[in-house]
Amino acid sequence: MSDVHVVILAAGKGTRMKSARPKVLHRVAGVPMIQHVLAAAASLHPRSTTIVVGHQADALRAALSGQSGLTFVVQEPQRGTADALLRTEPVLRDARGVVLLLSADVPLLSAETLENLLDRHVATGAAATVITAVVERPQGYGRIVRSGERIARIVEEGDASPAERDIHEINSGIYAFALEGLFQSVRGVAAENAQAEYYLPDLVAIYRDRGRGVETLTVSRPDEIRGINSLAELAEVSRIVRQKKTAELMAAGVTIEDPATTYIDRDVVVGADTVIHPGVALEGKTTIGGGCDIHSGVRIVDSRIGDRVTIHNHCVITNAKVASGATVGPFAHLRTGTDLREGARVGNFVELKNTVLGTGSKSMHLAYLGDATIGAKVNVGAGTITCNYDGVSKKPTIIEDGAFIGSDSQLVAPVTIGKDAYVGSGATIRENVPPGALAVSAGPQRNIEGWVEKKKKTSRD
Ligand code: UD1
Ligand code: CA
Repeated sequence: MSDVHVVILAAGKGTRMKSARPKVLHRVAGVPMIQHVLAAAASLHPRSTTIVVGHQADALRAALSGQSGLTFVVQEPQRGTADALLRTEPVLRDARGVVLLLSADVPLLSAETLENLLDRHVATGAAATVITAVVERPQGYGRIVRSGERIARIVEEGDASPAERDIHEINSGIYAFALEGLFQSVRGVAAENAQAEYYLPDLVAIYRDRGRGVETLTVSRPDEIRGINSLAELAEVSRIVRQKKTAELMAAGVTIEDPATTYIDRDVVVGADTVIHPGVALEGKTTIGGGCDIHSGVRIVDSRIGDRVTIHNHCVITNAKVASGATVGPFAHLRTGTDLREGARVGNFVELKNTVLGTGSKSMHLAYLGDATIGAKVNVGAGTITCNYDGVSKKPTIIEDGAFIGSDSQLVAPVTIGKDAYVGSGATIRENVPPGALAVSAGPQRNIEGWVEKKKKTSRD
């Protein structure tokens, strides 16, 4: 097999997105569009991967900075796809073999199809091989004009005659090119069209005129080569990825009551016998164990949930860990650094941040627990607040095993509540509580006899 050099075009403005964000960083099922393309390309183990950037080049470079083995070239101004390919000449001048040209806005292409493209390209010895598809709605795509069986040229929608617009075979914008003579031929492309741009598809006619072979590979699943030019197309393509994801999970034993309203990102993992109710969003790098129950309105982002966990309705969980057998919600908010240990229970209107809630511990109603380390078998009463912020910095609260925090308590950090200690209801705790002690902070209660009757009388006067 000859060397494969991948080129990904990503310099365009994406005008039709009407968005300030670079088009190829818009997320398809939670993953930036260009990452889908990079993943497919990487599976071919190419010799080199070059990305042509231009519009918002810095944002793109920054978004991909964590990835090694990428070469960036800048296309400024953006004068069309042929001009974009020409920018890679300094990188590929001495390379041999095949250029696999991908578009960063065509994210569903499978590695298998790319392999088929390369196989065909190499087997036929063509100068160019184009992936095409026959689709119901060809609008917006370049059309494949054939003469007899063979491809003659590609015509863009804006330049097509009415008869050409009726053609349903479209250009995917994905090609394999022999490097031999490629750049010299691309220089032959003229910008004589409705957009006054240098169109890479024009290379087909140029090669045909020069008697060099051009082949096509027509894919049987046209969804694979869908391009994204607008936010409506982004939503359609995301839906396709999500449908595939939910189908995979269901095949692996996950109950998804309503796939149409379930939003599961591509990289999420869910164990068998977990039930996902309608209207759930599982995002990013989330993993969920087996036998869980995830109720409607729950959003979980980049979190690890163990086995047999129940998450009641309308919880938001981000960057958190929830161990097996725990129960959360309804209406709980587990923020970054939350660590619920085995069998812990968090109830309604409870917010946790950077807090460990130990094995079997409970905080069932109306609480804020931040920067706290809470041991096993602790009961945190309704309305408890860790006052972790003094206006300058965050301070820790430690609650040792078996402690009982009465309702409506404020624990002013830094503070430690000792093992098995009790905090009386309504206490404001500013000093450490020794193990086994009871801490109370309010003064004795006074009852003023006959006060109501007296008040009524004075207001009558
Ligand atoms: C392109 C093809 C069309 C094909 C369709 C498939 C051309 C002229 N037309 O049309 O035949 O059916 O893709 O999706 O190629 N880009 C640059 N620099 C530029 C212009 C574009 O890097 O100067 C990049 C874009 O960022 C994008 C890709 O090239 O990733 C395709 O450009 P786009 O403007 O979206 O082309 P289409 O009109 O979709
Ligand atoms: Ca496009």
